[in-house]
Amino acid sequence: MRFLILLGIAVCSTYAACAQEPVAALRPYNYSIDKDIKVLHGAVVSAHPLASQAGSIILQQGGNAVDAAIATQLALAVVYPGAGNIGGGGFLVAHLKDGRNIAIDYRETAPAAASKDMYLDSLGNAVTTLSQDGHLAAGIPGTVAGLFAAMKYARLPFAKLIAPAILLAEKGFAITTAEANLLNSYKADFERLNTGPTAFVKAQPWQAGDTLIQKDLAHTLTLIRNKGAAGFYQGETARNIVAEMRRGKGIITLKDLQQYKAKERTPVTFNYKGYTILTMPLPSSGGICLQQMMGMVEKYPIAQWGFHSPQAVQLMVEAERRAYADRAQYLGDPGFVKVPVAQLTNKKYLAARMQDFVSMQPGSSDHTKAGVFPQSEETTHLSVMDADGNAVAVTTTLNGHYGSRTVAGKAGFLLNNEMDDFSVKPGVPNMYGLVGNASNAIAPGKRMLSSMTPTIVLQQNQPVYALGTPGGSTIITSVFQTLLNVLEFGLSPADAVNKPKFHHQWMPDLIYVEASFPDSTVQALQQIGYKIEKRAPIGRTEIIKRAPASRYLEASGDKRGDDSAAGY
Ligand code: DON
Repeated sequence: MRFLILLGIAVCSTYAACAQEPVAALRPYNYSIDKDIKVLHGAVVSAHPLASQAGSIILQQGGNAVDAAIATQLALAVVYPGAGNIGGGGFLVAHLKDGRNIAIDYRETAPAAASKDMYLDSLGNAVTTLSQDGHLAAGIPGTVAGLFAAMKYARLPFAKLIAPAILLAEKGFAITTAEANLLNSYKADFERLNTGPTAFVKAQPWQAGDTLIQKDLAHTLTLIRNKGAAGFYQGETARNIVAEMRRGKGIITLKDLQQYKAKERTPVTFNYKGYTILTMPLPSSGGICLQQMMGMVEKYPIAQWGFHSPQAVQLMVEAERRAYADRAQYLGDPGFVKVPVAQLTNKKYLAARMQDFVSMQPGSSDHTKAGVFPQSEETTHLSVMDADGNAVAVTTTLNGHYGSRTVAGKAGFLLNNEMDDFSVKPGVPNMYGLVGNASNAIAPGKRMLSSMTPTIVLQQNQPVYALGTPGGSTIITSVFQTLLNVLEFGLSPADAVNKPKFHHQWMPDLIYVEASFPDSTVQALQQIGYKIEKRAPIGRTEIIKRAPASRYLEASGDKRGDDSAAGY
């Protein structure tokens, strides 16, 4: 296979030939899941082997890390329909070889007809099925606008980057066991929440190795290839989306689609013991909360306490509690609410937040509220590093598995259910148990608060890690733990990702742990009064490391899913 790919480069003489080649090197029916790789030049790690392969082929054909990230995202929209998407949104954080740091926000927005109380019944009760299921749950998709915003930093033509996705949708690919199980378990939802047949339902249950073909999606991707972002936000695709909205009592209009814009933002940048951390600003809460949590633990001897020691875990839990309390109170789309970012991330403020922390004495969410100032006031991640020193971290989402489970009619792609990331009513938990208030209330055109935390770590202005994860509310705490695992506890990238994780989000006031979390730590924390609950796997983290002194890139895909690394 390596031979075929190299041959591909050698014969890439015309534009038409180049556009075809990524396709020739893909193996849609014969691929393996490669968890950990060590390569010399470029690496891609994502939730699906074929998507990582698509990105890696693009790197080998002269693309940079941004090209590879675009191709990987487009392939994920086909091979990982539960979270990869063109009907959702996401965030991209990158460090470019010329030293620039960028953040692209392509989060969904609320439709113009959305309103603060749109998910309340006549008695004022929240009806979260409406914000989670079907047509009304969808925000205006941002992914396609985001991909074109990223093209500014790419090197290859878009037609080449989208070629693998079109092939995989048009001709199909063999699905994994995990995908077969998921498609089967969502069959009733696909039937209930669509106005016509979809590619995701067939008479017999799906089995590993079955071919998933998505002809309508292939057609939409071809329109995007030919017409650019207008192939999605205008013309046939836009009309298909709106026609489906009319059939299913949704509210997205042609004007909503036409007006959608991705935004370049300034990344959240902070220092942690000599490392520079670059991560996503609002409307993701991820960067601010990560900066808060790292700032709150920085002065404690956490490495000395040891990985998964009761002391280290308790300290991290207490930092998480405080950051999530602030999240619920203050954070929302900065275009709509004034967020006191500087105060929330101020070192003195973070130290004050920890003033009532006592090692091995349990905190309580009744006692810990959001901080006070002296007032004025199914997601998926991919990481790429290339040979030139560019690093990209992208987290993108439909929100729940398969989003709203509603396909945009003839356009053939799944719509997100991101509206549930707004606070539909103060204090009412969303599907991840997160609560919020007016800062994150619904308003037309507003972006719903996110937890997605694509992150890059720099040392002497060179990228040393690119990482991120899905997991709803657990995203920020997974990135937090993975960072401390490598920076403080000295774990390898694979261990940092795969070792059991824990999570605290202020409300409910308990520590969630994965089933294999060490019993001795669980018992020690229970003994001092913490409530602990075992839960389903936390996160699916993708990480790439380039140690400054090493010639190699180490990429690791999380063992919790089909995550797979590729590179050369
Ligand atoms: O933006 C957010 O924070 C959520 N919509 C992310 C959802 C997610 O991670 C689902 N994956 N497990």
